[in-house]
Amino acid sequence: MSLNDLDKALIEAARIAAASSYSPYSDYPVGAALRFADGTIITGTNIENASYGLGLCAETVAVAKAMADGRRGELEAVAVSGPEKRGDGAPITPCGRCRQVLNELAALGGTDPRILCVGNDEVREARLSELLPHAFGPAHLD
Ligand code: THU
Repeated sequence: MSLNDLDKALIEAARIAAASSYSPYSDYPVGAALRFADGTIITGTNIENASYGLGLCAETVAVAKAMADGRRGELEAVAVSGPEKRGDGAPITPCGRCRQVLNELAALGGTDPRILCVGNDEVREARLSELLPHAFGPAHLD
């Protein structure tokens, strides 16, 4: 796929965010970056806990930061970047829980954001609706 300058900046923001990862237990730093319609980028990184099951993923932290800043919708694109030296270097995709968390923010604005999954030599792109088809969302509770 060809990446435009906005996408490249989003991917770079995700990579930089991973440098702040608190992941002493998995040693698996992840960075996430959300881009909104006004061009704002909000990042997150995974934050683990000595009580292992309480760790937070990078995408979830990014969504929480954005919503705590008052953002509701207008989510256009997301970049997720994992560590270069783990696994086979293939792009990592948001975990199931993060797909649901991303869907909440996206659904509030009626967008279907592009998800840029960043690997060592490849960026794989999918729409959130492809990663989470038939999503449960706020409209179900109307
Ligand atoms: N992780 C994320 O931050 N995002 C994902 O979508 C997948 C997994 C984190 C959770 C944990 O801190 C580490 O990666 C290893 O699973």
